Order: sequence, then C-alpha cells, then structure tokens
Amino acid sequence: MESKPRIWVLGAGGTIAGTGRSATHAAYQSGQLAADELLTAVDGLEHVAELQAETLFSKGSEDLGPSDWRALALRIDALTARPDVDGVVVTHGTDTLEEAAFFLDLVHQNPKPVVLTAAMRPATALSADGPANLYQAVLACASPRLRGGGVLVTLNGLVLPGWQTIKTDSVAVETFRAYPGGPLARIVGNRLQVFAKPVRAPLAGTFHSLLNHASPLPTVGIVPVYGGCNEKPLALWQHSHGGGMVIASFGAGTLPEPMAALARDMAAAGCVIVISSRVRDALVVPETMTLQGVTGVIAAGYLNPQKSALLLSLALAAGLKGEAIAALFEKFSCIPL
Ligand code: SIN
Repeated sequence: MESKPRIWVLGAGGTIAGTGRSATHAAYQSGQLAADELLTAVDGLEHVAELQAETLFSKGSEDLGPSDWRALALRIDALTARPDVDGVVVTHGTDTLEEAAFFLDLVHQNPKPVVLTAAMRPATALSADGPANLYQAVLACASPRLRGGGVLVTLNGLVLPGWQTIKTDSVAVETFRAYPGGPLARIVGNRLQVFAKPVRAPLAGTFHSLLNHASPLPTVGIVPVYGGCNEKPLALWQHSHGGGMVIASFGAGTLPEPMAALARDMAAAGCVIVISSRVRDALVVPETMTLQGVTGVIAAGYLNPQKSALLLSLALAAGLKGEAIAALFEKFSCIPL
C-alpha cells in the first residue's frame, strides 16, 4: 500500500479556532482552540494524510502582522526542510489571510506545498465551515496535481493562488476570490478537479533571505482617499514614514490635487510612494495615475493597498531604491504590447 503524505498543520488562530457562547450567537472569540483540537473535528482526514499539529498563535488575525508572518515563515522553512514533512497546512484568520498568503509567497522558496485555510464561522457555530475547509486544505496539500503552485489558499471548495487571494465579503462563506486570475481547482467531497496549471507567483521566494534579519520590517503606512479630502491624511505621515507610503487612490490612480502636490514633495524628498486603489479589484498603471511620470511614484498594478504595503516594506528592508522597486511592482501589472 502507498504511504500517505506527511503533513504538518500549524494553527495561527482566527475564527476557524474560534468559539462562541451559543451556536447561533454572532459574537465569538477567535483563536481559542489548539490545532490538534481542530483536527479531531474533521472526519476522514486519516485517509488523506498522516498529520501532526502545532499551535503557533492563539489570536485573531487582526492582531497579526509582518513580524508574526516572519515567525510563521521561519517555522514553515524549518518544517519543509525536514525529510519527514511533505507539506504544511496553516489555519489562519480570514481578516489578514490575503496578506499572510502574499507575504509567505514572497519569502517561501522550498518547493514543498504550503496551503492556508480559514473559516468565516467559529467552530461552535451551526454549519461551521472550518472542518470542511481544513479537510480541503489537507487534500490540496496532499495532491501531486497542485505541486509547483507555491503558497495556496483553500476555502469553500476553491483552491486559489495565494498571492491573488482577496477577501470580498465581511460575513459570507464564499468570500475569497482569486484576483486578477481565478481559482486553480475545485473540491467536491474528496474529489479535486484541477483546471489551471499551478505556477508560482511573480516574485515567489524573492525575499527569503530577509527571514533571518533581526530588525523589524519598515512600517509602510496606507493613506486612504475619500471624496472631498485634501492632503491631511498623507500629511500625518510626512515626517514619520519608514521610507515608503502607499496611497489607496480613487479608481485607477487619481488623487485630489492637494494630496497629489504633497505626494510630489514627499517623493522629491526620497519617500517611495506606491499608488494602489481603494477599488476592490484594483488596477493602477503608470499612465492612469494623477502622478504619472513623477520620479519616486510607482503604480501598484494589480496589488491592493495592503499587498502593496507588504511588498514595499520587504523591498525597503532589502535596501532597494526607486527604479528597482518599480521593477518589482511592474511584475504585478499588465505589460504594454
Ligand atoms: C480573524 O481574522 O482572525 C477573525 C476573522 C476570521 O477569521 O474570519
């Protein structure tokens, strides 16, 4: 008989490990259950893989950030280096799942699969979605047909490329989508239908060497725009940014003129400014920005503000400057003919 893949399940908190005081009450507390308790709720996993469980974080993902994802990535690095581990599944909160997946894709080099999953309903809810999502994540992690896709996200019967994952609904179980592409596979029961060839993210593993840096990643702030706003939201950061800023602009990169003027000054003074969009399915290219052609101002392509901030933070931590950083963002843009 063929031996089953050996998969390590890392618990990183979230609603999937959350519990509430009743099955119908909307409120609950995230990150209450350990990873091994999550596994015991999933019938049939023993037929898919040999599993080990470990709890890393016991909180909601609103309290996770780059230093936690670096710790998570280091643990994944250590586990995937082991000959007795074939892949890693991470249970995470949904609120920052897209950032965790993007971050992990930018730093993870080992070809062994890493699959993130989560849940929109706590473990104690009626029709909790966590057990099915965890089953599907283990199935995806065990599948040779999804090898080569780098970091993946599995929820609600879909397998998504990690870097493309976005959360689109505050409460619905069908909240996660892949943008700008689409899902790689669907899962029904124990069947996996793969309909796109898994490929690694544009900058997969590029920042692996930063995992062992002792210093924290530079904080890159995100400035929102709103109808009628002036330069004030950006001015709050003018003297306290960590070398770079992201602006969540209107549409395809437009800014109110007072904010555009201040952004020009900040860029001239050496702050790298990335223009993303407040629109959910964001696409900003250089020629659609108010600040088109301004040195030090970069279009985010398909990256939303939170993913842009992570990439910019890693680029600054690697010591990269304007044009080299622009070349990274270009990888996430449609290329002119
Ligand atoms: C969290 O992100 O930890 C809370 C929300 C969720 O997991 O759905």
